[in-house]
Amino acid sequence: MDSRLDTATPHAIHLRDYAPPAWLIDTVDLHVDLREEAAIIRSTLAVRRNPASGPASGNAAAALELDGQELELLAVRVDNRLLGPDDYTLTPERLTLAGLADHATVEITTRTRPQDNTALEGLYKSSGNYCTQCEAEGFRKITYFLDRPDVMARYTTTIEAERARYPVLLSNGNLTASGDSATEAGRHWARWEDPWPKPCYLFALVAGTLVHIEDRFTTRSGRDVALRIYVEPGNEAKCGHAMESLKKSMKWDEDVYGLEYDLDIFNIVAVSDFNMGAMENKSLNVFNTKYILAQPDTATDTDFLGIETVVAHEYFHNWTGNRVTCRDWFQLSLKEGLTVFRDQEFSADMNSAPVKRIQDVQRLRQVQFNEDAGPTAHSVRPESYIEISNFYTPTVYEKGAEVLRMYRTLLGHAGYRKGIDLYFARHDGQAVTTDDFLAAMVEANGQKPTDPLWAQFQRWYSQAGTPVVSGEGRHDAAAGTYTLTLRQTVPATPGQPDKLPQVIPVALGLVGPDGKDVPLTLAGEGHAGDTTRIIPLTEAEQSYTFTGVPQAPVPSLLRGFSAPVRLDFKQDDAALTFLMAHDSDAFNRWEAGQTLATRLILADVDARAKGAETAVPRAYIDATAQTLARAGEDRAFAALALALPTEGYLGQQRATVDVDGIHAARLALRRTLARELNGAFRKAYDGNRTDGAFTITPDAMGRRALKNAALAYLMALDDAPARALCLAQYQGATTMTDAIAALALIADSAMDERAACLADFADRWKHEALVMDKWFAVQALSDRPDTLDRVRGLMDHPSFSIRNPNKVYALVGSFAANPSKFHAADGSGYAFLADTVLTLDKLNPQVASRMVKPLARWRPYDSGRQEHAKAALERIVGTTGLSRDVHEIASKSLV
Ligand code: ARG
Ligand code: ZN
Repeated sequence: MDSRLDTATPHAIHLRDYAPPAWLIDTVDLHVDLREEAAIIRSTLAVRRNPASGPASGNAAAALELDGQELELLAVRVDNRLLGPDDYTLTPERLTLAGLADHATVEITTRTRPQDNTALEGLYKSSGNYCTQCEAEGFRKITYFLDRPDVMARYTTTIEAERARYPVLLSNGNLTASGDSATEAGRHWARWEDPWPKPCYLFALVAGTLVHIEDRFTTRSGRDVALRIYVEPGNEAKCGHAMESLKKSMKWDEDVYGLEYDLDIFNIVAVSDFNMGAMENKSLNVFNTKYILAQPDTATDTDFLGIETVVAHEYFHNWTGNRVTCRDWFQLSLKEGLTVFRDQEFSADMNSAPVKRIQDVQRLRQVQFNEDAGPTAHSVRPESYIEISNFYTPTVYEKGAEVLRMYRTLLGHAGYRKGIDLYFARHDGQAVTTDDFLAAMVEANGQKPTDPLWAQFQRWYSQAGTPVVSGEGRHDAAAGTYTLTLRQTVPATPGQPDKLPQVIPVALGLVGPDGKDVPLTLAGEGHAGDTTRIIPLTEAEQSYTFTGVPQAPVPSLLRGFSAPVRLDFKQDDAALTFLMAHDSDAFNRWEAGQTLATRLILADVDARAKGAETAVPRAYIDATAQTLARAGEDRAFAALALALPTEGYLGQQRATVDVDGIHAARLALRRTLARELNGAFRKAYDGNRTDGAFTITPDAMGRRALKNAALAYLMALDDAPARALCLAQYQGATTMTDAIAALALIADSAMDERAACLADFADRWKHEALVMDKWFAVQALSDRPDTLDRVRGLMDHPSFSIRNPNKVYALVGSFAANPSKFHAADGSGYAFLADTVLTLDKLNPQVASRMVKPLARWRPYDSGRQEHAKAALERIVGTTGLSRDVHEIASKSLV
């Protein structure tokens, strides 16, 4: 039996039903015996009735109900007495022990088959090594347990295995003993003890043939910490960047949050089969190799930055997640939103802050806004779920991070830090809620959660949907005032038809005709204030009048993207062009250019629908020329400013997505710019070739980004000089950044060398799994008409495996992110995805469920596409034996 559905309507778990556990577990003594045919796990639990859920709640007699899945129960002992089958109740997902004394020792022996575990949840094998993934509910696939985060215990773990195959044995905490098996030759064991109580989702063990690199970090109070990164033999030279990132993270957390590491050892293990990015198990982080392994010739700049961020993210969880954890899984954003915000700010400090902010907002818009506008929209703190694995979402993570950013915007940096300090002072060692977090934040600043502002702020946790802020400004020359009127609406989402206004911190500036910010004085204030002010928009409509504004300013709203909203502010093209050149806020300089480009492309989409085309205004071409001319000031920023809004983002601006019109209009604008500014792009290309030693400094990465942005424009014309340049870059590349940028353009083109280049790349990198992922991705993202056929063919390629999540994401996930191919009018893309989901679901429900999501948002497409998408979803939902994971997403998508 597994977690597959045995009823047509699986039941939802609701936040409102939360009750404290009837039992607590103080200590866990695990003995894990790893055999080739199975793993035998003996778990000894010290349990006691929870005094906090006392007799008043009927707990005096409550049975001990332990979660378990896909386990073979071998024996149960209570206080050393072996139970018979009549002494307990066993169902596919529960082991129930009734009539226990208030304190008891429960010993449970189970058998599991890690080598058959394709779901990659619980104990499984990756490249012949054993590893675990327990968050959210994987521990119940290892042993019967109270698998909920508010049950925190101290763990001792003894792992026993064959020494030759599994020389490395790791678990949480400190290694306290090890030795050879007393009874069986060739076997050895190791015992790990974790002094910190933790929920079972933070448990981990690893056993295998691994090598490691080692470094040290001394904490500011003088603790000497051994840092180790374990990888498969042959990969040890690719761990340096991850190790540097770890040390930087440890230092940053001390400097910025005052948080130090709390053990003498910190281990990371990289495995190639992993459903997500990485996992913050106490002192034994387990990572997807994608976020550890990097060398200049195998990893792109984006990969290097991704490693820095994810290593930091998992390290930061040691406090935000591990020392203080979640009471229940509805509180997931308590740790994930906060930890994403922390990793975003860390990366901003290590690199270019404006560039990082733009990239984070791009991601938020691309995936989170999309989720918020579709059938699986949910609040940052969801009200209910069927399968918790489905709630590791951009809303919980990225929108959750925006909520943290808004606390800081409203409270200021010092006030935010006071709140964080109080949060840890109050809750260290506890499992808490987002309400507890909010209370600490506001009370540390002398305010109350019941104050109107904070009562309203709570809606960021409870209301789904992306608020829309609209408005306009009016200048009164005679009075020397500028009046800004802003309105907000929060759209209806599934299960939440009516919304209340939220508190939206609007960071605002007024730019004078000279291009300089005007000091802001609100009517009634005595003196001029800052040039950027935070205006909390709390009502459905509000007006603000600024005095001392003799000349008409250009307003700059939502600077730094101060709130996760859609802005629909009345501003003409001339004002946007002005902001592109003069706004003191880099984010809004970028944003103004994006808004302009969005307008141009959408106008052209409309014209094309009527058989016409629009001309690109000279002013826009000139503004782009300016961006290129000033690119040397910040090349990475310029590369972002030159990139046109994605087809996905453009589609979000319309009630009905014109798939082909958007594709054609966007390409037409790229071609026009490439033609008009050919010389300037060529100059940017030539001026930013990065010969010499490879570095990942922001400057070097900026050069590569700008050069490759220029190359992409030049290749939009697909003419002989561009092709020659692109081919030369591919052939001469010394970095993966340059190689894959050129290869992606070649894969899009009709160049004669296309097939040869792709074959050459595969031949060169066939032994590097992570590099082959890129090879699959560039083909799946190709603009060529035969992309789907090729993707189908690639599923039989020897380097592809449907059991490996990275391969699925690279090939199938990339295809689903190729707008004009996935959304092909004949429904072929949807049908292909449905086929793949059904195959995957039998192996790995979590990955299958992630692959359903591109199908979920079918509503904003034309009726033909809608029918095809619905048919694909209905085919999925109608399949028997579906996992909870896939069933939840697919069925919600059809409502
Ligand atoms: N807590 C991990 C992180 O964000 C995510 C792991 C979740 N894994 C899963 N299979 N749901 O760092
Ligand atoms: Zn996380």
